[in-house]
Amino acid sequence: MKARAAIHRDFRISRIDDRLYSAFIEHMGRAIYSGIYEPGHPHADHRGFRQDVLGLVRDLDVPAIRYPGGNFVSAYDWKDGIGPKTERPVRLDLAWRSRETNQVGINEFAEWAGEAGIEMMLAVNLGTGTLQDAREFMEYVNHPSGTTWSDLRRSHGVEQPYGVKMWCLGNEMDGPWQIGHRTARDYGRVANQTAKALKALDPSIETIVCGSSNDEMPTYPDWEREVLEECYENVDYISLHKYFGNNSRDTLNYFGKIEQTGRYIQAIAGTIDHVKAKKRAKNDIFICFDEWNVWYHSRAEDKARVKAWDWPEAPSLLEETYNFEDALFVAGLLNEFIRRSDRVKIACIAQLVNVIAPIRAERGGPAWRQTIYWPYQMASLYGRGDALAVQVDAPRYDCRVADDVSYLDIAVTHDAAAGMLTIFALNRHLTEAADLDVEMAGFNARRVALHRVMEGHDLQATNSAEAPDRIAPADGSGAALDDGRLRARLGPLSYHVIRLE
Ligand code: AHR
Repeated sequence: MKARAAIHRDFRISRIDDRLYSAFIEHMGRAIYSGIYEPGHPHADHRGFRQDVLGLVRDLDVPAIRYPGGNFVSAYDWKDGIGPKTERPVRLDLAWRSRETNQVGINEFAEWAGEAGIEMMLAVNLGTGTLQDAREFMEYVNHPSGTTWSDLRRSHGVEQPYGVKMWCLGNEMDGPWQIGHRTARDYGRVANQTAKALKALDPSIETIVCGSSNDEMPTYPDWEREVLEECYENVDYISLHKYFGNNSRDTLNYFGKIEQTGRYIQAIAGTIDHVKAKKRAKNDIFICFDEWNVWYHSRAEDKARVKAWDWPEAPSLLEETYNFEDALFVAGLLNEFIRRSDRVKIACIAQLVNVIAPIRAERGGPAWRQTIYWPYQMASLYGRGDALAVQVDAPRYDCRVADDVSYLDIAVTHDAAAGMLTIFALNRHLTEAADLDVEMAGFNARRVALHRVMEGHDLQATNSAEAPDRIAPADGSGAALDDGRLRARLGPLSYHVIRLE
């Protein structure tokens, strides 16, 4: 099939916020314990941080990380995780029916994030927690000295405040499963007062209010409208969450969920605009898509296991094994985030290690990259700068979740400082190759600096400890510049990252 696209140097969608490639990690399963932290592991340092995992994390160039939950945060007391480790309480984690030893708390996590070169984005407990708890947490984390909480931090060996800028006001408060679940109005008021208090303490922070847990919630999208009506002036972002799957084994429909996500983003952007107009507000609110990923392979079994088990410590949980099809899906979803970077400023892959994650780390054993690691890494490394508008002319298809879906899914970024134009192209066609022809106006690209491709694998193929590199990008061939045009052949079900300079 023929797939034509056109870009122009001056037709920018937006400057991409680097935080579009952020991540999320929660105290659940083996994300923290035996994920990033495993004292005694052959690759652990003297503090218990796994250096093999840290290396894989660093290679992703993750800008920010949301912590400590997730559902976990809604019954978590941050004070349990500070002070001498031997004196920390063991608690029952109500979200995942597990035992929390509190051997990792805010200071250990901050140390790990610092070494990984990642900025922290902290969530406060608005389930069982109060405004007072949130305020004390922030004082401990961000205030320099001279108060009870800041001096307590200093007595714990952390002289300088962390200066955390991003604060999430609870988690998924629309979900009936959430400990402390509230109605939209109730939550909106609590979020407003909490945001006000936190900003009084440190006016330089940004607050993130909970949107819907997904676009199939019965309260969506009224939830967003009602919450924002209560707190618009005191928040900076509204969070969106969505997890994806292909239970029906319908690849084209699965890929159509990328378009469906675009509608979700559009609906929330419209809701923000509606409330802004209604309130005659001056400030803008952006979207923080702070939980996204594929989650379906082991979801049903995990749910049953959690129900049945007896409060285990760091159990295997939500350890999805991703296949090649999932990698293609993630590539397309990241393209959608780039295309909507005018409204989506922060997005977090959920999660980072072991739990629905691009990195798997065996207890006492090796760490390796799942299939989805690769598109996430390439978007994070190369998808910086400006997002450009792309005019696409390619064959289209209809599916259950969306109509008129282009077989060519494409996003283009321009990093003027680095002099790089990057094309992220996914051919969703099951059987046909696409002859891609991109017209590039206003550029003077001289050469193809990089061409990486993921193609030719069985859609069900996965990586594993025994075969960690089965699915990985390879060097592509045949992409050529010709009189201001880029031409490339995209095999069926393939993903290409082509950089021009
Ligand atoms: O990421 C796993 C869980 O998914 C999170 O704890 C929760 O916020 C969401 O429902």
